[in-house]
Amino acid sequence: MSKPLEGIKIIDFTHVQAGPACTQLLAWFGADVIKVERPGSGDVTRNQLRDIPDADALYFTMLNSNKRSLTLDTKTPEGKEVLEKLVKESDVLVENFAPGALDRMGFTWERLSELNPKLIVASVKGFSDGHHYDDLKVYENVAQCAGGAASTTGFWDGPPTVSAAALGDSNTGMHLAIGILTALIGRGQTGRGQKVAVSMQDSVINLCRVKLRDQQRLERVGYLEEYPQYPHGEFTDVVPRGGNAGGGGQPGWVLKCKGWETDPNAYIYFTIQGHAWEPICRALGKPEWIDDPNYATPQARQPHIFDIFATIEEWLADKTKFEAVDILRKYDIPCAPVLSMKEIANDPSLRASGTIVEVPHKQRGSYLTVGSPIKFSNLKPEITGSPLLGEHTDEILSELGYNKEQIASLHASRAV
Ligand code: COA
Repeated sequence: MSKPLEGIKIIDFTHVQAGPACTQLLAWFGADVIKVERPGSGDVTRNQLRDIPDADALYFTMLNSNKRSLTLDTKTPEGKEVLEKLVKESDVLVENFAPGALDRMGFTWERLSELNPKLIVASVKGFSDGHHYDDLKVYENVAQCAGGAASTTGFWDGPPTVSAAALGDSNTGMHLAIGILTALIGRGQTGRGQKVAVSMQDSVINLCRVKLRDQQRLERVGYLEEYPQYPHGEFTDVVPRGGNAGGGGQPGWVLKCKGWETDPNAYIYFTIQGHAWEPICRALGKPEWIDDPNYATPQARQPHIFDIFATIEEWLADKTKFEAVDILRKYDIPCAPVLSMKEIANDPSLRASGTIVEVPHKQRGSYLTVGSPIKFSNLKPEITGSPLLGEHTDEILSELGYNKEQIASLHASRAV
């Protein structure tokens, strides 16, 4: 099966998570992704949170599959020369260094496009260019706080809370991948590359747009009827933290199931979709609620929504989360078990679909990773192991036209 991005060469000058998540995605779809890493150390995540001594950490292996690794010290004259050759032959350079690092290395946008006018230069930064914080270095949780996610996540009586989902890192990488693919199509039209920039703050804000919706609604009417604070609690002039409330027009909550006293994940998420009210009442054995004016409409239900959830929890008390969902799905009720990472790792459906995959690795034996969440009818991305540090250095140098002696001399100079 041919892969749509075959023939696209990408210089992967990324590290940690945001950049590597982007280039990994492009590698799955066929791009030749050359990860450029500092000789001796490489991407810092190779050593972070190691579970096996002397083997690349999962943090690295799970974000760098399907790539080749080239060690190169791009601050030495010899290393710069190799990078320049690579730039001339590549379609895209992706980087997520601290602000100004690429310029300090001598590879400004002007210089790169002079070397290769068709090159697309794609960057992740914490804040966008010209923002009053654009000099800051940024990691995941910093972005979640600056992007509105933390102030609107958690419970009203607790502090701002960050999500476990990598809204600042991997999410930004996905935005960048869309930008790169767009620029590649644009290049087909104009013949020229361009600069593509995505900030972590902007990417988080993009996912928080319903909270910006809520801010405007709050300013207009003074309350938000789908939040637990309505109708009994207090609203201020900013969007509050709404716990586990549904973010749209459908009330929902995380509800206890059998075993919750000992199992921290014995819960389901239950949504009261307006038109599903009748099946919900039937499923719960409460047919009298169907036409009761205190329950029949969403507006009538809202003042005692937590009493309704308490009644559902009574019904759930003798059912596991899986048993409950098996009953509720027959009534077309939007719900799901709260799954632990252990359950996700072992889920047969996720294994069968390729969302969770086990891949071989030279040091680790094998490791579990998340495969492509995007499914195609004519492409089945095959996930291969991440490269060892510098594993493909000589191979890539010889593709660039260096002979054996020149490669040996580059090694001797410690440029590779
Ligand atoms: N050869 C020579 N030098 C190299 C190199 C190579 N192959 N690869 C990196 N370097 C140098 C850089 O040029 C930089 O040097 P300088 O400070 O002298 O200019 C240095 O290594 C450190 O890079 P930097 O990006 O500053 O790393 P850091 O560990 O200090 O900061 C981040 C890490 C993630 C905070 C920072 O890179 C950042 O804010 N990136 C943008 C946002 C982002 O992507 N955040 C992380 C998301 S997971």
